[in-house]
Amino acid sequence: MKCAIILAGGKGTRMKSDMPKVMCKVLFEPMLYYVIKAVKEAGCTDVCVVTGYKHEIVEQYLPEGVEAAYQNPQLGTGHAVMCARDFAERHREDDILILNGDGPLMDAATINAAFGYHRENDNAITLVSAIVEDTNGIGHVKRDKSGKLLCIVEHKDADEEEKKINESNAGTYWFKGGDLLYALDHITNNNAQNEYYLTDSLAILLGQGKNAGAYVCENTEAVLGANDRKQLNILNNIMRRNINDSHMINGVDIPCTDGVMIGDRVKIGRGTTILPNTILCGDTEIGENCTIGPNSYIENSKIGNGVALNNTQVTDSEIKDGADCGPFVRVRANSVVGENVHIGNFVEIKNSTLGEGTKCAHLTYVGDSDVGSNVNFGCGTVTVNYDGKNKHRCKIGNGAFIGCNTNLIAPVEIGDLAFTAAGSTITDNVPDKALSVARARQVNKEGWVEKKKPYKNME
Ligand code: UD1
Ligand code: MG
Repeated sequence: MKCAIILAGGKGTRMKSDMPKVMCKVLFEPMLYYVIKAVKEAGCTDVCVVTGYKHEIVEQYLPEGVEAAYQNPQLGTGHAVMCARDFAERHREDDILILNGDGPLMDAATINAAFGYHRENDNAITLVSAIVEDTNGIGHVKRDKSGKLLCIVEHKDADEEEKKINESNAGTYWFKGGDLLYALDHITNNNAQNEYYLTDSLAILLGQGKNAGAYVCENTEAVLGANDRKQLNILNNIMRRNINDSHMINGVDIPCTDGVMIGDRVKIGRGTTILPNTILCGDTEIGENCTIGPNSYIENSKIGNGVALNNTQVTDSEIKDGADCGPFVRVRANSVVGENVHIGNFVEIKNSTLGEGTKCAHLTYVGDSDVGSNVNFGCGTVTVNYDGKNKHRCKIGNGAFIGCNTNLIAPVEIGDLAFTAAGSTITDNVPDKALSVARARQVNKEGWVEKKKPYKNME
């Protein structure tokens, strides 16, 4: 049985964040999200996350079925695993994967390849390593002249020669459960940082005559971690490229990736085009043959097939097949925009449903409203949904025609096929098929200018 311990207790001082480091985000998801996803994909059924600094935040984030072990105070990665001793005891007979919660690029394929290597060689410990260019801050994997593993030397403890070693410890290890428990009993804090280093397990188990190996990973990016914001930015760029590439391979057109940021949970159908400066995040699903962007932001929303969203923001809403929005449209939470709806420039929709074929071409606010199908909103329509204390709803029947600059003072109902005259302020319900005119009648005063001489040069 495969199981995993994820180390997520550190404060991440170098990140200068109020959040625990593993909650710092890479493409809109905490780094921990990717690590949990990778261990699950790799087939680890039991997962334990070691929490510490601001542990409530991490615990609250954990998906169901993932357990937590609390480390307080945080005395190093070895100490973190000691705090998950109960979990390790339960898995004494199993293979235990341990990995850092701040390494979001570690993937299931690498974890599984390392596991194969671990089993083949009957290792007590197998670490994942990579040859890197930037050796600053890494754990250096030290070998003897013949290439046999000796130990891991942390950068802070390394002498000048050791600092030149460019084989980096990824912070991902497979242990035999029993051997891990043995190592935990023998790790000390006798080093530059006075911390209990998990990395010392390697030398400890080698000292016991056990087999140990390093799976040298060819994908040098998989081993990258983020200790500060600059490294976080590097991880964001790599993740962004990986995700964009996977969508392109699946038939999504991204002619220019500038400013295109797509979250890991986003699904996009084939034939859809994503244009520059478009952010798609959260639980978002986009259908086939859509054009999204430029300059659009879609979060936690479902977009149907053949939808066009130009300079549009959509949050927590649904846009159905064939609808088009934009430019400059905002669809706020709890809205459903029906099939083939047309929403033009400078329109805001909030907490409203728009039926099939409805048109809202320009400069309109529709809030807290239930709008039927084939309704036409004239330019400048406002649903007046807030009386300063409470929000009220408007109901607009199928086929209604709302004249330009109509104010609909909620709560109010407009019947099917009813008309409101341009400039009306509607306070009372309008029956089906009626015309409602709610404005002062026009008066023309002939010769008024000659008589009054209101302009300066008319004295
Ligand atoms: C660690 C490794 C280093 C490796 C690098 C890869 C050790 C001693 N060093 O260094 O060899 O090259 O990762 O990225 O393990 N954590 C706890 N409790 C603690 C301290 C840390 O849970 O008391 C967690 C952190 O939240 C983090 C992970 O362990 O997710 C690694 O800790 P970090 O301080 O980032 O170690 P590195 O200095 O990166
Ligand atoms: Mg780290």
